[in-house]
Amino acid sequence: MKIMICKNYDEISKKAASIVLKEIQKKPDLTIGLATGSSPIGLYKKLIEAYQKNKISFKSVTSYNLDEYIGIDRSHPQSYYSFMHEHLFKHIDIQNENIHIPENDITRIDELAADYNKKLHEHQLDIQILGIGSNGHIGFNEPGTPLGNETFIVTLDEQTRMDNSRFFNSLDEVPKYAITMGIKNIMYSKKIILIASGKEKARAVLKMIKGKVTKSFPASILQLHPDCTVILDEASAAKLMDSSKNEQQKIKAVKQKTTINP
Ligand code: F6R
Repeated sequence: MKIMICKNYDEISKKAASIVLKEIQKKPDLTIGLATGSSPIGLYKKLIEAYQKNKISFKSVTSYNLDEYIGIDRSHPQSYYSFMHEHLFKHIDIQNENIHIPENDITRIDELAADYNKKLHEHQLDIQILGIGSNGHIGFNEPGTPLGNETFIVTLDEQTRMDNSRFFNSLDEVPKYAITMGIKNIMYSKKIILIASGKEKARAVLKMIKGKVTKSFPASILQLHPDCTVILDEASAAKLMDSSKNEQQKIKAVKQKTTINP
C-alpha cells in the first residue's frame, strides 16, 4: 500500500484528482469505478474544474459505481444515482450510455445484480475510487462479508445506517438494504485509490493499514492489492502516526538495550 498524508481535505482532493487526470490522459477511454459519500466530493469538484478549463474530456470514459440503496427510487435525492449526477455527471461530458450505477428494482434485484456483475467481468476497471466506512466497509461490504463475494444484495450494518443518517431526515428513512460490488470485484481493479478524512476515520484507517487481514474488517484486504494508494489528511492519519511513533520508540528501546547488554 502506498500511503499519502496531506494537510487537509482540499489537498487530498487535489492529489486524488491529479492521479485520476493523469490516468485519463494516458488512456482517454479509461474505465473507472466510482464511490459516493462525503470522501470523493472534493475529488469530483476538481475533476469538474479540470473539465471546465478544457484540460480533460470524459467523452470516452466509462464509469461503474460501487453501490446503490435498495428501497428508495433512483429519483430520490439521496439515491446514489442522484448523488452521482448532482456531484459529477451533469457537469462533465461523460456519455450517458457509459455511466453504470447498479439498478435497484426490488422485483428483479437478483437478475440486476447478476447483470451488473457480468458487465464488471467484461470490463476490468482501470482504477477504483473508494471511501472507507467507520466500521471498515468498502463499497457496502459490511464486516463479516466473505472476501470472495461478487455483486450482491447486502443488509446494511446498523453503524452504516447511523453514519449515513446525516443525509436523511431520520434514521428510519435510511434504507436497510443495498446492492453492492463485492470485495472480489473491487480487488480485480488494476489500481485503487482510497480517500479518508477526519478524525472519525482514524481508527478505521489504522486497522485497514496495520490490522490483520480479515473479513471482520473488509478494508484490511486492500493490504493485498498490488497497486493501492491511500490518501489521508492529518486527522484521519493520526492513529497511524501514533502507532508508527510507538513502533519507532520500541525499536529504539530494543537497540539501546542491546547496546548496553550486548
Ligand atoms: C459509497 C460507499 C461507501 C463509502 C463509505 C464512506 O459508494 O461505497 O463505502 O465510501 O461509507 O462514506 P463517507 O465518504 O461519506 O464517509
